[in-house]
Amino acid sequence: DASDIEKGTYSHFMLKEIDEQPFVMRKIIHEYQTENNELKLDANVRQAMKVCDRIYIIAAGTSYHAGLVGKEFIEKLAHIPVEVHIASEFSYNMPLLSEKPLFIFISQSGETADSRAVLVKIKELGHPALTITNVPGSTLSREADYTLNLYAGPEIAVASTKAYTAQLAVLAILAVDTAKAKGLDLDFDPLQELAIVANAMEVLTDQKEAIEDLVREYLGTTRNAFFIGRSTDYHVCMEGALKLKEISYIQAEGFAGGELKHGTIALIEEGTPVIALASQDNVNYSIRGNVQEVVARGANALVISMKGLEQDTDAFVIPHVHELLTPLVSVVPLQLLAYYAALHRDCDVDKPRNLAKSVTVE
Ligand code: G6P
Repeated sequence: DASDIEKGTYSHFMLKEIDEQPFVMRKIIHEYQTENNELKLDANVRQAMKVCDRIYIIAAGTSYHAGLVGKEFIEKLAHIPVEVHIASEFSYNMPLLSEKPLFIFISQSGETADSRAVLVKIKELGHPALTITNVPGSTLSREADYTLNLYAGPEIAVASTKAYTAQLAVLAILAVDTAKAKGLDLDFDPLQELAIVANAMEVLTDQKEAIEDLVREYLGTTRNAFFIGRSTDYHVCMEGALKLKEISYIQAEGFAGGELKHGTIALIEEGTPVIALASQDNVNYSIRGNVQEVVARGANALVISMKGLEQDTDAFVIPHVHELLTPLVSVVPLQLLAYYAALHRDCDVDKPRNLAKSVTVE
């Protein structure tokens, strides 16, 4: 129960939950590991993943953004095609389903009505469903065939932080487990890599003052902000923009770097903040090109890069982690940017206007 959870020395649950992320990673490693350091996963989930020919991820909000990254994990590691759908949109244009679909519902609360409506519908059609949730006894968990738990502990702040990174960690574990069950050759140990992620998160949560300075410099009085990235970074940009808009009310959007020239660049004015992510080697050159384009039009560019890919003018550098797992780390400075932007505007960080933690009506 939320009222039993204490903020301790924290002024807001959101900051506490951001800081808890390294511990959540270690908890997940512990829960999904056997005594022999092998992956531990429900055998029924393993079997369902092994026999399906296509995965349909259904989610809303931040969980949808986790699904976009999860698709990459599953396709790259387990070689199963994945579609990611916004729950509320799914029924209007239901895709033609494959012969052996598996539905994965990603939901922190396990109570989101839009997602539940899809679950009810696909169960009527007789398809199997797996729910990935932070709340074991929740509706989506009870009504699905299988559940994977996030072990993130109660998330109280409306803006989701630790549940997002927990979702990514569990999706990575699921993808690797499936790859192994299918006999695919992998040189990626998710538990070991997640331990490195946990340490990197700790380095970042220790840099709050640096992030607060960036908020003063880049987001001080702005009414809007753009996040740009390519590939995986693009999906993290969508989440970074959602965090910023939901708690600071700054109008923010995440854009694919390559799409700038197709419209968005028209919005860049003198002083427009553009936050660019550069955590992926294969798109580093291209995203740098986008940064130059917006800077040439007056943008105030804040580049967040990963160690090894950084340039002198970058505002912030995140520690190096495995390139598949960069979202778990690059999202942390974006969460903190949103937090301090909201704080500096005297916004109600934990309970932003018009929003609910869990939306149980369609
Ligand atoms: C609400 C919350 C969001 C959350 C979304 C999906 O809109 O404010 O933070 O991402 O619901 O919630 P779920 O519990 O299904 O992950």
